[in-house]
Amino acid sequence: MPEPAAAGSTWRAPGRVNLIGEHTDYNNGFVLPMAIGRSVRVTGTRRADRRLEVRSCQEPGRCIALELDDLTPGAVPGWAAYPAGVAWALEQAGHRLPGASLAIDSDLPSGAGLASSAALECAAAGCLADLAGAELPRREVARLARRAENDFVGVPCGIMDQYASMLCQAGKALLLDCRSEETADVPLDLHAAGLRLVVIDTGVRHDLAGGEYAARREECERAAALLGVASLREVTDTAALERLAGPDHEVIARRARHVVTESARVIEAVELLRADRLAEAGPLLTASHQSLRDDFEVSWPEADLAVAAAISAGALGARMTGGGFGGCVLALVHEGLCTPVADAVRRAFAQAGFGEPAFIDAVPAQGAHRL
Ligand code: GLA
Repeated sequence: MPEPAAAGSTWRAPGRVNLIGEHTDYNNGFVLPMAIGRSVRVTGTRRADRRLEVRSCQEPGRCIALELDDLTPGAVPGWAAYPAGVAWALEQAGHRLPGASLAIDSDLPSGAGLASSAALECAAAGCLADLAGAELPRREVARLARRAENDFVGVPCGIMDQYASMLCQAGKALLLDCRSEETADVPLDLHAAGLRLVVIDTGVRHDLAGGEYAARREECERAAALLGVASLREVTDTAALERLAGPDHEVIARRARHVVTESARVIEAVELLRADRLAEAGPLLTASHQSLRDDFEVSWPEADLAVAAAISAGALGARMTGGGFGGCVLALVHEGLCTPVADAVRRAFAQAGFGEPAFIDAVPAQGAHRL
């Protein structure tokens, strides 16, 4: 039985920090994100026509009006492409939508590596599905949101961010096997362990639609093809990468080494979390950062400095989070050391002539929900 269509609906969908498992999702590997308290809220009201109107509190006075029957991949510029892409993906999947007016509000910075695009997609998808009277499983919403981003917006992202926004639970991290899409909640009680996750916003902004993200994906695919496997997930031992030895493949061998070692670090981190040994995961975070900096080359100077400063001030481990080239660093810190770590990062940034960093205390939050 279809659900009765709602005249109005509001959804809140959170951003995420990824604890570990970076650039592994599109290689079919493992990731371990958690939702954060910052989110995107979308309120939708049904219209009698087939028009999609979108407004954002972050751009007051502007209204973008589109016709559902004219939605064309690649043709909508800016942030309106995300809700428009979701409408397009829902219709492509056979859900006939009514016209809708969407009002967006967000306290998630965009381009900061906290998955604001996925949060916007998931909140918009929840609303539009309600207005269409479609009751969709959460995983289906996540897949449609990713489809919107891949095929309508044109960013070749993996599935991590949309799954994190739809499936994370408060007090838990989400282990996602990106090959089978199996998930497991992993306990993450920072307070009980006397620890905090400090998110340092370096202030540098990225654009994943830029070529570097896509270039990394292609390099990974090339490595997998040369190794004769369907994806780098199939490689579990770095010894197998010796087949990529030689100057011709030096770069893609390093890319592949990052992916293979990073997926292994996710599994090690999960074992530590499950054994209540969270503090011991610090060195894995730092190893992940080094691998992203040296092998995968997606780090940026402010992130490297934030990691170094946090660790010298006593953080147990620190790493960039998200796609890279800008955004945030997360540091695992004993609760008594939060202020000294933040001060050390501020001082280091000032000395280097970088802009002022911002700090967010990240607590594992609930995934997307209807308000
Ligand atoms: C972005 C993408 C994700 C993932 C990360 C890197 O956030 O949206 O799919 O690939 O980068 O781990």
